[in-house]
Amino acid sequence: QRPIGVAVLGHGTVGAEVVRIIRDDALDLQARIGAPLEIRGVAVRTVSPERGVPVELLTTDAESLVTRDDVDIVVELIGGIELPRKLVRAALDAGKSVVTANKALLAANTGELAEAAEARNADLYFEAAVAGAIPVIRPLTQSLAGDRVDRVIGIVNGTTNFILSAMDETGADYAETLAEASRLGYAEADPTADVEGYDAASKAAILASIAFHTRVSASDVYREGITHITAADLTSARALNCTVKLLAICERVTGPDGRDRVSARVYPALVPREHPLASVSGAFNAVVVEAESSGRLMFYGQGAGGAPTASAVMGDVVMAARNRVQGGRGPRESKYAKLEIAPMSDI
Ligand code: HSE
Repeated sequence: QRPIGVAVLGHGTVGAEVVRIIRDDALDLQARIGAPLEIRGVAVRTVSPERGVPVELLTTDAESLVTRDDVDIVVELIGGIELPRKLVRAALDAGKSVVTANKALLAANTGELAEAAEARNADLYFEAAVAGAIPVIRPLTQSLAGDRVDRVIGIVNGTTNFILSAMDETGADYAETLAEASRLGYAEADPTADVEGYDAASKAAILASIAFHTRVSASDVYREGITHITAADLTSARALNCTVKLLAICERVTGPDGRDRVSARVYPALVPREHPLASVSGAFNAVVVEAESSGRLMFYGQGAGGAPTASAVMGDVVMAARNRVQGGRGPRESKYAKLEIAPMSDI
């Protein structure tokens, strides 16, 4: 069987772990796929020999790498929107399978990449874009495709969950806890995307789109962050036997005209202590799905970090590689009935 060529775009914590797994677990992966996986190149900003990758694989020319004839799968792990969009579009237009962890890219204009993939009958996988290692995309796009999902509620941002859990446990205020989160490496140098809810809003858009077979972009998501939450808010929540969590809430709502629409919102919410999401503490993520026939399902685990995110990426790489070998296709978005977005006045 001819080898499956992989291009990895980005060599940060996730990219480095993906490259390590492909190289270290080559024989196991080959047995699972039915063909060897071979890294054709790793696109980086600057080539430096100490990265633990043979220097001949490193390239700064991502554009040429993604369309090379010997590349079958492009793994996009560079973050941002415009550059990855250009590279992913070029890869899909060239008929490559694409695996991405880039929630901001997917949610910026939901449907654009799915359409590009559809046009070339190419695979687009994105399990790692929401909740890291936790399988939520595949359950929603495949396992529950025959059920009627009513609601998806998630703690999908580890940084803010770390901060809110610590405020709840210690009684400290927001600024003090954010500083501690930065010191421990949980919060980024610029934590805006996390604490203002943009990261969670992108993930909510993706979850709402796949749960309700429609298209929700990040700009459709009502969003509030956690920067205004005070120690006193946590104390009041405790008095009500609740805690405060930044929730991504995606649900089917029936408007005054009797029609179903979809609502996606991100905001800090009071969560009763007995709700399963109340006990999700630290940097962990959890997603609760409520569907007509399945009832309530809960997915819990590590939502960020190099190794957990690489686990989800590698699952997608193996699926895409198997499809190349055995002739299958990844999940496609539904082309048919698309729910509209509900106005906040209907919620
Ligand atoms: N900044 C994100 C978080 C990383 O804190 O959850 C994973 O998307």
